[in-house]
Amino acid sequence: MNVRAGAAARPALTTRPQWLALQRHRDQIKARHLREIFADDPARGERLRAEAAGLYFDYSKQRVTDETLRLLLDLANACGLPQRIAAMFSGGRINTTEDRAVLHVALRAPRGEHIEVDGKDIVPEVHAVLDRMAAFSGKVRSGAWVGHSGKRIRNVISIGIGGSDLGPVMAYETLRDYSQRDMVFRFVSNVDGTDFVEATRDLDAAETLFIICSKTFTTLETLTNAYAARAWALKVLGGADADKSGAVAKHFVAVSTNVDEVRKFGIDTAQMFGFWDWVGGRYSMDSAIGLSTMIAIGAENFRAMLAGFHAIDEHFRTTPFERNLPTLMGLLAIWNNNFLGATTVAVLPYAQYLKRFPAYLQQLTMESNGKHVTLDGVHVDYETGPIYWGEPGTNGQHSFYQLIHQGTRLVPCDFIGFCQALNPLGNQHDLLMANLFAQSEALAFGKTVAEVKAEGTPDALVPHRVCEGDRPSTTILAERLTPHALGALVALYEHSVFVQGTIWNIDSFDQWGVELGKALAKRTALEIASQKDPELAHDSSTNALIRRYRRLRGGDA
Ligand code: F6P
Repeated sequence: MNVRAGAAARPALTTRPQWLALQRHRDQIKARHLREIFADDPARGERLRAEAAGLYFDYSKQRVTDETLRLLLDLANACGLPQRIAAMFSGGRINTTEDRAVLHVALRAPRGEHIEVDGKDIVPEVHAVLDRMAAFSGKVRSGAWVGHSGKRIRNVISIGIGGSDLGPVMAYETLRDYSQRDMVFRFVSNVDGTDFVEATRDLDAAETLFIICSKTFTTLETLTNAYAARAWALKVLGGADADKSGAVAKHFVAVSTNVDEVRKFGIDTAQMFGFWDWVGGRYSMDSAIGLSTMIAIGAENFRAMLAGFHAIDEHFRTTPFERNLPTLMGLLAIWNNNFLGATTVAVLPYAQYLKRFPAYLQQLTMESNGKHVTLDGVHVDYETGPIYWGEPGTNGQHSFYQLIHQGTRLVPCDFIGFCQALNPLGNQHDLLMANLFAQSEALAFGKTVAEVKAEGTPDALVPHRVCEGDRPSTTILAERLTPHALGALVALYEHSVFVQGTIWNIDSFDQWGVELGKALAKRTALEIASQKDPELAHDSSTNALIRRYRRLRGGDA
């Protein structure tokens, strides 16, 4: 059932009494510095925190009081968050513009759970695919799966883009410590030939397995790279461009929902790992799209990651909102974005293995919540998704943190850290974590004029050395960076995005904006490839750029 069908349009968000109450409240407390808020409520660091699935979530350094939280929770209830959660978990078609259920939570449902789409329990299918993935990845890892010439597979190259790439790359980088170290894992996404050439230049095609990941199997970048891979492999394995020797069967597998297109490419459907239209691309790293992850870390670790996802799913579904991590995280994002005027969120993992986590989150958060109309098609009169970005600490500290400390913009930060080192080296982990704690403290409390003066600073330099503080942050702390912890962390952000989308009353699961550029690129590619001078009917800037490019690009233009 389309959950919007027949439903009355929701009242405008900004006219809701709960929204207006939050605005009034903001006006009352906005002058209160975090120093003051902590002074009035010294134990808030032990109170404004929540814990689930091994994640400790400290939001006491956000610019909120108990009253702010109460009002935010009122807003969540008024916007129907409980009903939306129930609709998502029960397979309601909440992606209304594509008329689809949104059931990434089913990807990590334990065997035996029951989730229906159109009257059919989908959990057995999920586990059937997981079992096939486990069998296949076991063969590749053990060397039982050999290439066309009988050589063991040593290299796995996953080709995909967007949700069919960012999750696998991030998961591989994050869980590298758990990966099979005698194998090489690479990822190709960009249609820039450099990506493919650099990923393959030192590899032997006879030892290389390609996983072609594409939900639709029609994405220009992925198909272009997949054909390049086929040609590259067949040159060594099968001669020419045609798969006369049957080498593709040993060196290519597909992950997709599109059986016909996979066949057309030349991959036998016996070597296809399926998923379903109720899995959004950016919510798919725990589906078969994660096949490279499973080959890298093994099925047991992959299942531990799924258990981490599921632990947060259950927490989100069943825990009262005042202790519910994704709900709190989503509501704090609403507070910072819509009431304190922040336009961005910095994600700052103090774990080198999480270096691709901000990039992963960019798609998850911004493709989901970068929307300008409500579910009813009405232009919003409030800001929606903020801009997510970040770098691992401590590198960021020596780069952009200056702006966060003393710039004029409000940049709420998510600090992420782990208590145990995966690579203990002297006291380096203690130093790393000391930096995390120091940064969130410095951002919140800053350094006053009096403190700067007390250090004997010359008067002229005092304003330069003052750090105003009052910069909000959340700290997420886990014991150790395990597959389980990664699953929990990703699910936390997924559901936080959902909470925000629910408040904004937008469709967090479509991505129509990406389509316009794709269509224009197709037309422009034909113009660029044209033998004759093409008639260009773009604007004068685009026409001139294309002409100049055709003139200077060399080759056969
Ligand atoms: O960029 C838009 C998008 O549709 C993403 O949502 C998706 O993750 C990506 O393209 C890749 O799509 P596919 O898996 O179908 O190749």
